Amino acid sequence: LTVAVLISGGGSNLRALLDAAAEPGFPARIVVVGADRPADGLAHADAYNIPTFAVPYREYATREEWGDELARQLTAWRPDLIVLSGLMRLLPAAVVAAFAPRIINTHPAYLPEFPGAHGVRDALAAGAEQTGASVIVVDDGVDTGPILAQERVPVLPGDDETSLHDRIKPVERRLLIDVVRRIAEGELDLAAPASSNPPAAT
Ligand code: GRF
Repeated sequence: LTVAVLISGGGSNLRALLDAAAEPGFPARIVVVGADRPADGLAHADAYNIPTFAVPYREYATREEWGDELARQLTAWRPDLIVLSGLMRLLPAAVVAAFAPRIINTHPAYLPEFPGAHGVRDALAAGAEQTGASVIVVDDGVDTGPILAQERVPVLPGDDETSLHDRIKPVERRLLIDVVRRIAEGELDLAAPASSNPPAAT
């Protein structure tokens, strides 16, 4: 199974996936890593001699034009699976339509709780005693796709966004690596995933 990974930031989850994919016998191969900005995390791909590309969002007049270039880059690599791992950008509907359901996303909350760009901060602000990590199929909503894997993570007294996110990320990485493995081994069918993910209660 060939995989393209998209990031925006430091790429610690990408790094974990790269390390797992480097293990002999791992059934998936990361063929390219892309970013919506000159992300620091692209250096993790460089370390593995894996090609990278950046499509800087700020260089495009509209989200759609940005998305069209992103889709062109991705199409060139013909990945079997696209993994959003800390991509802090919503994909335009045309990009989702071009690749769905072969796009998965990792999110640092227990969806449908706390969807969106600030899931960790929102869980803290809500005074949640537990939150979680989720891996979902990307659809044209915001973190509304079918849930492929999720696990609860406790919120501890004195947590701030960083300490809570640092507790969530290792769980995210384990779930993400396992989901990619299961997709590659044909255990998970993205076209007919087990559970659906109801929209978060408003
Ligand atoms: C991850 O928790 C991801 O789910 C969220 O942002 C974080 C990215 O962290 N969208 P990193 O870039 O993988 O370190």
